[in-house]
Amino acid sequence: MKSIGLNIDKAFGTIAKEQVFAQAAKADASNNLLHSGKGAGNDFLGWLHLPSSITEAELADIEQTANLLRSKCEIVVAIGIGGSYLGTKAVTEALNNSFDPLLTDRKNPVILYAGQNIGEDYLFELSEVLKGKQFGIINISKSGTTTEPALAFRILKKQLEEAVGKAEAKQRIVAITDARKGALRTLADQEGYKTFIIPDNVGGRFSVLTPVGLLPIAVAGISIRELVKGAVSMEKATAADIPFADNLAAVYAAVRNELYKNGRKIEILANFHPKLHYIGEWWKQLYGESEGKDGKGIFPASVDLTTDLHSMGQWIQDGERSIFETVISVESPDHTVKVPSDAADLDGLNYLAGRRVDEVNKMAELGTQMAHVDGGVPNLKVSLPEVSPYYIGQLFYFFEKACGISGYMLGVNPFDQPGVETYKKNMFALLKKPGY
Ligand code: PA5
Repeated sequence: MKSIGLNIDKAFGTIAKEQVFAQAAKADASNNLLHSGKGAGNDFLGWLHLPSSITEAELADIEQTANLLRSKCEIVVAIGIGGSYLGTKAVTEALNNSFDPLLTDRKNPVILYAGQNIGEDYLFELSEVLKGKQFGIINISKSGTTTEPALAFRILKKQLEEAVGKAEAKQRIVAITDARKGALRTLADQEGYKTFIIPDNVGGRFSVLTPVGLLPIAVAGISIRELVKGAVSMEKATAADIPFADNLAAVYAAVRNELYKNGRKIEILANFHPKLHYIGEWWKQLYGESEGKDGKGIFPASVDLTTDLHSMGQWIQDGERSIFETVISVESPDHTVKVPSDAADLDGLNYLAGRRVDEVNKMAELGTQMAHVDGGVPNLKVSLPEVSPYYIGQLFYFFEKACGISGYMLGVNPFDQPGVETYKKNMFALLKKPGY
């Protein structure tokens, strides 16, 4: 089996290769600290060995529940926000047909999302779409108290109960939450919903390989076994005993920290594959919440290329030199589309006739890399042999492991997120929630 790769050859200029390798000992020490369980935030290290510790019974339980929802529902609404949403969204967008909800000959339910915003129009329109449809709900909240998903669930639960009756609604609602605490746990126990547990020691943004991600991904008809298999292979490839130069996660962590120390305060994650947009969104939460604290941290941004070359391209090429770019490069697309020949050639594209669209995309990618490197933007490349569950699993674990190492190298606790509470306190006070 191939593996995802990391190429840092074009990262140098602002920093020298020697500077990165001078960080090897610190990166290795940070990796060892993760594995020793003695570092900051060590009560949230459950993700470290999560891929290799998922049992056959757990996978079978998830698949069985997914099959029940698949048999009853044409639409499944996954309710959740942040880490309880972005992993599933990233995987389904990457692996489903780009026009999935429009497919008529369906084998899988359509997955729709709620609780990731407080949009009244969004909820109204979702509720309208669900009228007359056979739908189910996966309600995901680790804390079980987050306002956005709780609000969405209250509305959709009522709609489902009114549509199919309380008893049938119970068969179509699954709750994924804490083992003991939180409003969702109380509600699920009282109502008798099927539940899955999010382990105490796995934070939201590291939870995609728990039932949080695995259940809705399985409902979508995507192989969770392949996803986990890919993650297991990356768990091995980035273990603490892997030498620095061979350890993708340690090298990535070292390069980005060295760039940061030398004034590169923004990392732009770029893709040339439109289905990877939400991988960028997932990655932003992972790195933003893990590193942005104590007045420190690289600002994680993302772009979809070539689309955003026509909007952000000018800034990247020519704006303040405070950025570096990490490009996720997909080696092989799934399908082949060739440029047709045209007798009139009024658009002047006959020079491309017979060539694949992907060849045009690859040359755009190479041309962009050359332009940005010339423009003083250090460039890292993460290559994906193909967009498949296996390689997405590898990618998730690679970024998670690198994030843990990178956070320790930066000197922060990568596993807490005290900053996300501030807006909630203000909102609750403004809404006159009792106790605020
Ligand atoms: O990383 C985190 O823990 C947060 O961003 C959460 O993912 C997000 O707030 C959702 O929380 P919960 O799953 O508790 O509803």
